[in-house]
Amino acid sequence: MKYRSLLLLPFAIAFHAGAQNPLAIPAALDLDTFDLVVDEHMHQFYPGLTTPTFGVNGVFLGPTLILHHGDTAHIRVINQLEEFTTLHWHGMQVPGESDGGPPRMVMPGETWHVKYKVKNPAGTFWYHPHPHEQTAEQVNMGLAGMIIVQDDAEAALDLPRTYGVDDIPVVVQDRSFAANGEFVFGPLGDSLLVNGTPRPYVELPAQVVRLRLLNGSNTRTYQYGFEDGRSFSIIANDGGLLASPITTDRLRQSNGERSDILLDLAGMEGDSLLLMSFATELTHSMPGSDYALWEPSALSGIDFPVLRIRVTAQTSDPVTTIPTTLVAQNPPAELDISRTRYKSFGGTGTVGTGMFTINDLMFDIDVVNDTVWLGATEKWVILNGSDIAHPFHIHGGSFHVLHRDGMPPHPWERGAKDVVLVDMGEQVHLIMKFDELTNGWPFMYHCHNLMHEDMMMMLQYVVEDRSASVADQDGTEEVTVFPSPSFGLFTIQSDFALKEAIVTDLMGRTVMRRTLNNSFQDELDASAWPPGPYVLELLGTDRSVRKVVVRQ
Ligand code: C2O
Ligand code: CU
Ligand code: CU
Repeated sequence: MKYRSLLLLPFAIAFHAGAQNPLAIPAALDLDTFDLVVDEHMHQFYPGLTTPTFGVNGVFLGPTLILHHGDTAHIRVINQLEEFTTLHWHGMQVPGESDGGPPRMVMPGETWHVKYKVKNPAGTFWYHPHPHEQTAEQVNMGLAGMIIVQDDAEAALDLPRTYGVDDIPVVVQDRSFAANGEFVFGPLGDSLLVNGTPRPYVELPAQVVRLRLLNGSNTRTYQYGFEDGRSFSIIANDGGLLASPITTDRLRQSNGERSDILLDLAGMEGDSLLLMSFATELTHSMPGSDYALWEPSALSGIDFPVLRIRVTAQTSDPVTTIPTTLVAQNPPAELDISRTRYKSFGGTGTVGTGMFTINDLMFDIDVVNDTVWLGATEKWVILNGSDIAHPFHIHGGSFHVLHRDGMPPHPWERGAKDVVLVDMGEQVHLIMKFDELTNGWPFMYHCHNLMHEDMMMMLQYVVEDRSASVADQDGTEEVTVFPSPSFGLFTIQSDFALKEAIVTDLMGRTVMRRTLNNSFQDELDASAWPPGPYVLELLGTDRSVRKVVVRQ
């Protein structure tokens, strides 16, 4: 077992009726170059209790980074810890060398210069460490921060976007404290922290406001809703804005998921309302439910407060209505799917003590588990044959949930996403287009329960450019295909008897599969294929693979 069971402070600390604390709002940085100093310090979460923490730029958690779609972000990650770390830009579509997964270690004292073009649309993303086997512990110590991407489409909408005034980051985490003030490392905590603030309240103006909810917890799943049962509008999920707001009174969030919600507080000056987690509504297999076999936690199986909102006077320039339409969606097309992969979770146990696998495999930093072609659209089917729920996350971009168990996705998981909770016995179908090369630095896919991720419930994949990986000629001279480029008729001459031709496009989709004449020369009619490069595989008594081009 990787975590210690120390003497916990009494249950009273999480629920003591003492004064509430103003919600900390992390500084927002809007810079050309961000310096992120990963460091250690002390923090007082509770009066009289000093807690050693990690964080970025001198504080528990880190600043919120404001990025602009289309710009290039320059970031220097300066590691002042006494252990190695990495920073991963969760949800950001960046190439492998910028992704900050486990292979990209930043050693103590080292600075990692990273830059990437901001390709994601406006949305809420986050950064967190991702070092091999140390992710949960470093996040638990306080390393994490929010990323807000802005773009023109979002700017054109009448939405709350004054950071800290009507647009509020809400990073939800649970923690346990030892009697000496130190964090206890483990899957589930007894104290809830929002942006590092215990028992928080926030003052919000009597108008439409936005909360950017991020579950930054190691393991716990939240079931958000308001104490008075009011509904709210989800306007964005992991990968950005939705087509239109979704009105709901519940929002379930597992580890790493984000949602932006709008609340209309018009006419409520002087009132207060309470954002809750209704954990009694979670299924037994979800971390945070009342299931007796979970590690004990004072917050499990009960409904508990997350954030108190006190409504103050309107600002001078309030947003007063919730838009009815947001941004047009552009999900990958099912017709373009070139391949389906099945990823099946196995294993039994609870969060801290179980061992879980993906396709019976566990993480090996020296093994690449999948190769995906650049530009390909694939369907991934995630099946959970284990006995608890796991949040599936993939690096390298966003996906859309096609369906779960044949039903449409839940309202809170529409739009572009990069984490999806897959409950015991469920089968979730995802569609994703792979638009970033890994360039020797593989992308991860894993369970975002950080305890599981560190216990190797993670595999890796590479994205390769298929046209670069197939030479025009394969080196042997026994096969000639001419002319290429061609307007449509290819002649094949070969040293070996030709039995079959398989033609695929650069995404790996099969364009044609044909039996050949079992002799040394044959022809292929390609006049119906769209112009472009193709991979021609010739099978017979030998095998040959080459690239052919159909011209305009
Ligand atoms: Cu949030 Cu692999 O990460
Ligand atoms: Cu990620
Ligand atoms: Cu898991």
